[in-house]
Amino acid sequence: DVGARVDSLMQLMTLEEKIGQLNLPSAGDISTGEATSSGIGQKIKEGKVGGLFNIKTAEKIREVQRIAVEESRLKIPLIFAMDVIHGYKTVFPIPLGLAASWNMQNIERSARIAANEATADGIAWTFSPMVDIARDPRWGRVAEGAGEDPFLGGEIAKAMVRGYQGDDLTAPNTMLACVKHFALYGASEAGRDYNTTDMSRLRMYNEYFYPYQAAVDAGVGSVMASFNEIDGIPATGNRWLMTEVLRNQWDFNGFVVSDYTGINEMIAHGMGDLEQVSALALKAGIDMDMVGEGFLTTLQKSLEEGKITEAAIDQACRRILEAKFRLGLFENPYQYADPERAKKEVFTAENRAEARKIAAESFVLLKNENNVLPIQSDQTIALVGPLADNKENMAGTWSVAADFDQAVSLKEGIEQVMPDARILHARGSNIYADKELEARVSIFGKPTYRDERSEAAMIREAVAVAKKADVVVAALGEAAEMSGESSSRTDIGLPKTQQKLLNALLKTGKPVVLVLFTGRPLAIKWEAEHVPAILNVWFGGTEAGLAIADVLSGEVNPSGKLPMTFPQNVGQVPIFYNHKNTGRPLPEGKWFQKFRSNYLDVSNEPLYAFGYGLSYTTFEYGEISVSHTAPGASDVVKLTVPVTNTGKVSGKEVVQLYIRDLVGSTTRPVKELKGFQKVAINAGETKEVTFEITTDDLKFYTYDQFAKDQKIIHTWEPGVFELMVGGSSDAVQKVEITWSK
Ligand code: IFM
Repeated sequence: DVGARVDSLMQLMTLEEKIGQLNLPSAGDISTGEATSSGIGQKIKEGKVGGLFNIKTAEKIREVQRIAVEESRLKIPLIFAMDVIHGYKTVFPIPLGLAASWNMQNIERSARIAANEATADGIAWTFSPMVDIARDPRWGRVAEGAGEDPFLGGEIAKAMVRGYQGDDLTAPNTMLACVKHFALYGASEAGRDYNTTDMSRLRMYNEYFYPYQAAVDAGVGSVMASFNEIDGIPATGNRWLMTEVLRNQWDFNGFVVSDYTGINEMIAHGMGDLEQVSALALKAGIDMDMVGEGFLTTLQKSLEEGKITEAAIDQACRRILEAKFRLGLFENPYQYADPERAKKEVFTAENRAEARKIAAESFVLLKNENNVLPIQSDQTIALVGPLADNKENMAGTWSVAADFDQAVSLKEGIEQVMPDARILHARGSNIYADKELEARVSIFGKPTYRDERSEAAMIREAVAVAKKADVVVAALGEAAEMSGESSSRTDIGLPKTQQKLLNALLKTGKPVVLVLFTGRPLAIKWEAEHVPAILNVWFGGTEAGLAIADVLSGEVNPSGKLPMTFPQNVGQVPIFYNHKNTGRPLPEGKWFQKFRSNYLDVSNEPLYAFGYGLSYTTFEYGEISVSHTAPGASDVVKLTVPVTNTGKVSGKEVVQLYIRDLVGSTTRPVKELKGFQKVAINAGETKEVTFEITTDDLKFYTYDQFAKDQKIIHTWEPGVFELMVGGSSDAVQKVEITWSK
């Protein structure tokens, strides 16, 4: 058994070798993966490295693994990691886009394919899923998660862990998942990356913790600490979080890795010098040190000075070795790096076809006045915008293994899917006019091609093309690296130069379809008022161009729903559907009333609500029926609603269930998602959708303010509940039931 094998191995290990297992350096440049030339090779021989990340290709990984298992004293294999976030070489939509599909089978499948491809190339450990609840679209990393809702985020967390880890971790095509960033990283103040986070414990438990816990319940093998502080203590050094919550309350038994130099960054947080912060991290519950080498260089000294115990080092080492055993690395250290399998199974036609299908389900139709969409196959299409004939932005942020040249652009996609259409192309504008911004955006990625013609000349050309067309498709939005890590924005509109282009296109009087590329909810109120059709396509992955063309042509009926609220303007941020009522709520239907919770200059409504998304058909909800109106503690309430496809084409609808607890010992949100089902319904057909609700769905974290310890408990409280069902969080019908103990 694993425990006994780890014990016997650890008996042979020196203290230095144990500390070596806790060290996770980066190989350096991910594109070249020069591990051996950066001094790491020597460290591996000396047993000072436990794992390595940012190294690519099966051949290179085999070579580095060979050093570990042939030239180090104890021949302990390394674990190789990478940010396989939304696919490996076959790239799926950014995680926010995957979430918009509300299709758990697809999401699990995307992780399965990613694991199959990455493991063939030697990667046994992915730094995914990222499940940070995010309510502030200024934060660029909203692109990497599942949006604002804990329940949806939790379902996705489970699907991804299942997809990566499968049911046999020792298999050569499954990999260890790492849920991140624990915890609350998405609540960085003002949406500024790496900023401070501060919130009540009640909010943590009720609104932010659930997806991490769901991943733990699904058996995730590792956890990554977040950069931010929690309750005044950085997560990386926070014992309450890493040990009390994660291990004692949630029974997590894998290992915890810091984020990139997260331990060293506690010096800047003001927690002490490298020796102090490294000891703090170990004592708090961090097992592996990513990049910073604080563990490697200071733990021995801290032990000699009595600041940490050898038992703490042993425990961390044991957890890492256990993971390596669970992955089967001791049986076959090379099993994940198989160049022959890589040739056959990476970026295959089948994987790409799946990615295309999955991407098409992630797009959200925000507006479709006069049924501008779908576009008839024999029309003349003016295809304009900086993202129309563009490959490098299709995959989206954190596509580290992708080959951008092999991505399908929108132009190529339309040409392939609509061979009878006449396509007139003009670039129309650059993504942004501001060169300094462009330089900042390009730090991570390859700089986006820039057209040096004047703004006016480019717009003139696009307008001339638009005038000759039946319909204009404007491919506008963000560059991939305008969202993602270290890409916070305070102005979350379309870049000005693109707004000018769009305005000029609208003035031609031709019907305009805005194909919106984005890694975050954008503030597009003007566009929503003036453009007849808007299809939000996120960054759809390597097959994005084909998938978008599938939807534009009507080959695929869009079925995505927003996993995150689109604000009317940035001043409304943070704005989310599951907010509290306050003591002065605005009466329904009003947009301002003096001395109520509202703004003078904008209503409280979002531009597009959580759960919103149109289809090429229409769905009508019939009357809700419930099996019980006065259930008792052990009853299962069955709620049924008939949903009819009242349009002319078949489509998929995401039927959403929300619950409101009207009275609580602590205040409750106005609604909370508690279930959803994505159902395919043919034109004219009615399907009955049933949800089963038990008291488990009513549970929340609360405390008794009159008790001495004010301990937070997880419970449900009898009383009146509203059950709401609909196709968007802002379009629901409700019934009231009274639940007694
Ligand atoms: O996994 C990432 C993390 O999300 C942000 N910092 C770097 C890590 C490793 O690349």
